[in-house]
Amino acid sequence: MLSNGVIARLQAAKELAREAGAKALDLHRGRTTLDVISKGPQDRVTEADRAVEDLIRDGLADRFSGDAFLGEESGASAGELDRHEGIWVVDPIDGTDCFVFGIPSWCISIAWLHRGQMTVGVIYDAIHDEMFAAARGHGAFLNDRPITASSATDTSGGLIGIGYSSRVSPAATLAAMQRLMEAGGMFHRCGSGALSLAWVAAGRLVGYFEPHINSWDCLAGLLLVREAGGWTNDFLAGDGLTRGNPAIASAPGLIDHIKFVSGLVPAGAGPADGVGAPA
Ligand code: IPD
Ligand code: CA
Ligand code: CA
Repeated sequence: MLSNGVIARLQAAKELAREAGAKALDLHRGRTTLDVISKGPQDRVTEADRAVEDLIRDGLADRFSGDAFLGEESGASAGELDRHEGIWVVDPIDGTDCFVFGIPSWCISIAWLHRGQMTVGVIYDAIHDEMFAAARGHGAFLNDRPITASSATDTSGGLIGIGYSSRVSPAATLAAMQRLMEAGGMFHRCGSGALSLAWVAAGRLVGYFEPHINSWDCLAGLLLVREAGGWTNDFLAGDGLTRGNPAIASAPGLIDHIKFVSGLVPAGAGPADGVGAPA
């Protein structure tokens, strides 16, 4: 049974994601007039990211004034995260490059941690009107219908999302892609880590790996995967919440495969014939 507090937060996250999605969609349609600011190599932000984050942050503060907030664009105020049992972790637009370049592959991601545990996760793909939502112990849903991770047991049975950002050297990503391809698998990159994880939960991708990702990109998606019966690494280990970590997720029948692809399992422990499953 979900507590009233969790039900209220799940409901609020869905409402605000929908509202934020409508605003983002409007801005996306008028994107040629948006100011695009470079935060670093291949790292952009637009006034849309900031406006959408403001909308979500204000909406959450009105409803749950006792919770803390960590957003990609505004961060968190000093010490705030240590003082609160409930923390909202928000990426207003995940897939900003796609948003800017007119590629329909971006989303709103809202997660809520309670006493350090991923408890609510909502990802809204406004272009396709797809609302992915999960609460801890309650399952994962797409537009209110239950979803489950893929039943694949072999990497050749589906696509694995691979994420890359210029925060890390290309080596770990290239090595993962090489292991995946040598094992008969195929990679997919949609430009949004959050959406990729939602697709793992929905059984569209059979796994996801990114050597470094931030909490706002992936917490909602990781909870969705777990609630859909999939496996994920312990992303919040160490300083994962504030400094990020690798994100690894898979269908339940491919845990050894994704560990091998990501490099969690040492080289040599993979499929002997280059195609099948690790033992
Ligand atoms: C990025 C996207 C991308 C992932 C990066 C993220 P942004 O977020 O999720 O797919 O590979 O690690 O930083 O910049 O589009 O919000
Ligand atoms: Ca992001
Ligand atoms: Ca973002």
